[in-house]
Order: sequence, then structure tokens, then C-alpha cells
Amino acid sequence: MNTFYITTPIYYPNGPPHIGHAYTTVYADVLARFARLIEKDVFFLTGNDEHGLKIQRFAEKLGKTPKEVVDEMAVIYRDYWLRLNISYDYFIRTTDSVHEKVVMSSFEKLYRKGYVYKDKYGGLYCVDCEKYYLPGEYVEVEGKPYCPIHNKPLEYLEEETYYFKLSEFKDYLLEVLRNNKIVYPEEYSLEVISRIEKEGLRDLSIARPVERVSWGVKVPFDPNYVIYVWFDALLNYITGAGYATDLERFEKYWANVHHVVGKDILWFHTAIWFSILKGLDIPPPKKVIVHAFLINKGLKIGKSAGNVISIDDLLARYNGPDGVRYILSRVFNMSKDSEVSFELMDAIYNDELADTYGNLIRRVGALAIKKLRGKIYRREVDKKLSEQIMVKMGNYLERMKNYDVPGAIIEIMDLLREGNAYVNNTRPWEKEDPSKELYGLLELIRVSTIALAPVIPSVASKVADEFGFKIENPEKLQLGMLERYNIRNAPILFKKVPAQGNT
Ligand code: MSP
Repeated sequence: MNTFYITTPIYYPNGPPHIGHAYTTVYADVLARFARLIEKDVFFLTGNDEHGLKIQRFAEKLGKTPKEVVDEMAVIYRDYWLRLNISYDYFIRTTDSVHEKVVMSSFEKLYRKGYVYKDKYGGLYCVDCEKYYLPGEYVEVEGKPYCPIHNKPLEYLEEETYYFKLSEFKDYLLEVLRNNKIVYPEEYSLEVISRIEKEGLRDLSIARPVERVSWGVKVPFDPNYVIYVWFDALLNYITGAGYATDLERFEKYWANVHHVVGKDILWFHTAIWFSILKGLDIPPPKKVIVHAFLINKGLKIGKSAGNVISIDDLLARYNGPDGVRYILSRVFNMSKDSEVSFELMDAIYNDELADTYGNLIRRVGALAIKKLRGKIYRREVDKKLSEQIMVKMGNYLERMKNYDVPGAIIEIMDLLREGNAYVNNTRPWEKEDPSKELYGLLELIRVSTIALAPVIPSVASKVADEFGFKIENPEKLQLGMLERYNIRNAPILFKKVPAQGNT
């Protein structure tokens, strides 16, 4: 199977994207670019989650209509993704009419099949999460129920609603979660399984009376109700791939779909999503790749905590998209929250991009131009060096295929350090004809640059261009394939960020 379908969560556009959204999106983009590099047929979907109370209230605050706000925000999100060089194939908006139709027809299909029914509901609700909290799920502050994520009081709501029979899917979910290795890393799968085993599954309210929430997709056979924003949002993954417009295309990509999500939305992307899909006769996704949070001084970075780091600041400080992409990919962690500060990000950028990769390019490029007018002909690569290159490349490929982007990057950084050590040890500047050393080093640079291309695409193509090689499938790389390097320039790729502490 040669397809690779990858998705990000669709984001709530109640503010511009920040470092946390960029973290997920850049990671998904690196996987998409890697898959393209190894010649997969890639479809990369991102977009915005535009309905629901959160957006309705945000618009009210701005004195605009929700539609005006989401239209403006869609432009802003796309612009940030462009500036971060995100290579998405389609940007889905839940207000797209094709999507809305899928939401309605899916709701109706589940209703007809008996998976949706009408009944009363009362409970404690968090507007920011757009969900009801059950006892045990919320925290208490001064005796009052609070949302554990947003640290705000919960509101009591009572309403007639439509329920989705989540409880009917218990056996199906447990079987799929236990046997199919869908959720990655596995610890998250175990978390969901143990929650289902301990708490069981309660039916899920999937509609709101229109007087409460007016901004959303109407229940097709009962216009007094608006469909729950999560039901609406999750379906983006099928609409975006052509479920309603091109079934063949949908099936082709769905067979290999990878959802990248933060751990905050794990439950929605497993218990709820797999059950909706099953109800619609669609197989579960191939993989749900889950990551932990970016935190600052121990708190999840986000609007609620007020500790947001802006993408604009990152782009300005790290000289454009590649620096930012590298840093976010490098601190990426599936299991543990990553504490970030400008101090740490400066150190990664300066030590790895400027002093290790940038420095090697500059040194080898300058030596090649000075000693051999930039023309380096093929020589046999030192056995030890060539072994190091091939071993690191093998490790890199294995890690990338396991979605371990930071691990893959570390392999390549190690290799680049070996490269710098090789320059120091072999002292090519003292040799009359250092072709052998320089050719070996250029091979190391070529392989490393290709490996880093999904993370730092602009810099990688610039190096390939200046040094005269191609960015090609890393699975097919062999050493000694290039007859001649033609070095036109020894660029300074990453200007160091001056030490300025934690600003
Ligand atoms: N709209 C829903 C998702 C619907 S998907 C069918 C939503 N949107 S969100 O705007 O709140 O974005 C949530 C996602 O943004 C998280 O799951 C995570 O991927 C990313 N992150 C936001 N802040 C983050 C951090 N501080 N750290 C890591 N990821 C973060 O939930």
C-alpha cells in the first residue's frame, strides 16, 4: 500500500494559532514530507473547527457574526501555516457545505440504524471544552465544580437532547484497542482501555437545543437542535478525504490514515471516533499518534494559562520557518510534557543548527572552494566514515518510520558531529589535494541534508542547490553515486541568536 494519509486536529479559531498548535502541525508536516520523500502517495489534511458555543461566544465578544470571524480566522491560520512552510494538501473548514452535508447525513444514518435516540440530560458543562463533566472528572475549588483543564467554574445545563449509543460499542472498542495497535504510543491505548473497563461507556449527548447553541449544523429532521461540535468536527477526517465526493479516493487514503493528536483529545479520537465510524460502517483509523504537551514553568502552554509563545516571535527569533520547525521537532515528545523556554530553544538552535550543521557546511564548502575551486571528484570514502554514515542513515530511517522524529534528528546530529570531528582529525586544509577527505565529507553532508529535508526543507534545498546534489529518496541512498560535487557557495545558513536569557 503506497498511500499515506495524515491529519492534524482541526483547531478552534478563537484566536490565532500559537506554539502549541504549531507543535502538532509541524510534526504532522515532517511526517508528510518524509512520506513524500520515500515516494508515498501522500494526503495531508489540516483545517479549522468552526462551529459551537466557543466560537459563537468569541464572535459575540468581538461584535461580529460567527461566520465573519471564522472567515477571517481561516485566512490567518492559512497564513501562519504558509509562513511555517506547512505542506498541507487540503485545508478543511467545518462550515464547508460539503462537510455540513456529511455531518447531517451521518447523523441521519446513525438515527435510522438506531444508534441515535432522544432523551433528557442534565449535567455540569464546560463551555471551553464543549463537554459535560461527570463526578470524578472535574475538580472542586472552594466547594464548586471546576473544569480541570480550563480552571473555570462548570455550568449546570439541563436539556432534551439526542444521544449517541456509545455504550453499545464497548466490546467492539475493547477488541479493536487491544488487538490492532492503533493508538501509539501504546501507553495511551492502555489508558483508554482501563477507562472503559473501569467506568464503562455512557451514551453521549450529541445535540444542543438551538436556543443554547445556534452556531452549528442543524439536526436534519429536527431543526430545533444543533449537532454537537465534536460529532461535527471528527467527521472532517472523512469529508476531507472525499467521503461524499469521491468514494474511491476516500477509500484509497482511509486505508492508511494517521491522526496526530495531543493527549487532551485522546478520548474523542478513540472511544468516540471509533464508535461513530463503526456505526457508519467505516473501519477504524490505521494509527492515532498521540503526543504530550508543550509546557512552560510546568503549565500547559495555551490561552487559558496565558503563557502563549507566539509563532511571530519564533519566526523572528529563529530566522524563519526552518529554525522554528527544527526546534519544535527536536523537543517533540509523545509521552512526556516538554518544558520550553527561549533559553532552551536558543541553545538547540545555536548548538545544533548553527554550530553543528551550519558550521560543517560552511567549513567544508569554504575548503572545497579554496582548495579545489569547488570541484570535488569522486574518491573512495574512508571505510570508517562510510560505515558511520550508513549506520546512522539506517537508524534514521527506522526511527522516522516509527514516527520518532526527534530520535531521527538526533541520529543525524550525531553524524554531523562525526563530520566536524573528521575535519579536525584529517586537517584537509593542510593537504595539497584533499579530494578524498572532502568527497567523504560531502557525502556525509548530502546524506544528512536529505535526512533533514522534511524538517528544514528550505535550507536543505538551498544546500543541495549550492553544493550540486539532489534531494532524493533516502531509502535508495548509496555512497559514491555522485561523480562530482560542484560547490558554488559556502553559505552561512543559521545566524546565531545572541544570548539574551529567558525573555
Ligand atoms: N477543535 C478541537 C479538535 C477537533 S479534532 C476533530 C481542539 N482544538 S484546539 O484548538 O483546542 O487544538 C487542540 C490541539 O492543539 C491539541 O490536541 C494539540 O494537538 C495542540 N495543542 C494546543 N496546545 C498545545 C500545547 N501546549 N502542547 C502541545 N500541543 C498543543 O481541541
